[in-house]
Amino acid sequence: QLAQRQGLSVGQLRISVVTTAKYLIPSWLGEFCQRYPDIEPEFQIGNRAEIIQRLKQNLDDLYVFSNPPKELDIESEFLTENPLVVIAKQDHPLRNEKEITWDMLKGERLLMRENGSGTRYAIERFFNQQGLQMQQPATIASNEAIKESVMAGLGIAILSRHALNHMAPGNLISLPVKGFPIPNSWYWVFPKGKHKSAAATAFKSHVATKLALGARLG
Ligand code: PGA
Repeated sequence: QLAQRQGLSVGQLRISVVTTAKYLIPSWLGEFCQRYPDIEPEFQIGNRAEIIQRLKQNLDDLYVFSNPPKELDIESEFLTENPLVVIAKQDHPLRNEKEITWDMLKGERLLMRENGSGTRYAIERFFNQQGLQMQQPATIASNEAIKESVMAGLGIAILSRHALNHMAPGNLISLPVKGFPIPNSWYWVFPKGKHKSAAATAFKSHVATKLALGARLG
């Protein structure tokens, strides 16, 4: 078998990722598994707090976080950027403004992910650092439900650009708000000292190759 020839043991590749990463990892995983058909992927998705629990229990070979938990003994490595953008309905009254300040959006309801979400954590940290006021948020515990709710006119939101670009309903836009997008990145995370499976290492280099290729093609 090709996988064995290339030193990849046949078997499981257990990956756990935060929900923003579910938009990109599957296509890389699909290609990878076509190349190594003997590898059985097991792909878990959860919010940051849920994936931290899996990491603590040592359940997986590889993890993806935006904000790796500093309190745990881990190794993390930059994967790619995951900026957080302000999203609104396509016919939002400010859609043609060149530069919007956060103050101009104060009257809007802000739809936020649940406690335990890394997206929420990054937004709260950014607002604290920038001294921005956050209007009373409404909590909606899913990126998809937030997109649907914004589309239905419930309010605006701050979400991963990947969540907007992938599987978005189509009539959402990102607003050019001064100071945004919130800079944010994904990291590969391994428990420190844990043997790295050949499949996990090979998958990580497969993704690195795809990203480098994408960057070269612009
Ligand atoms: P999450 O994903 O909001 O589902 O926890 C987060 C992240 O990108 O940190």
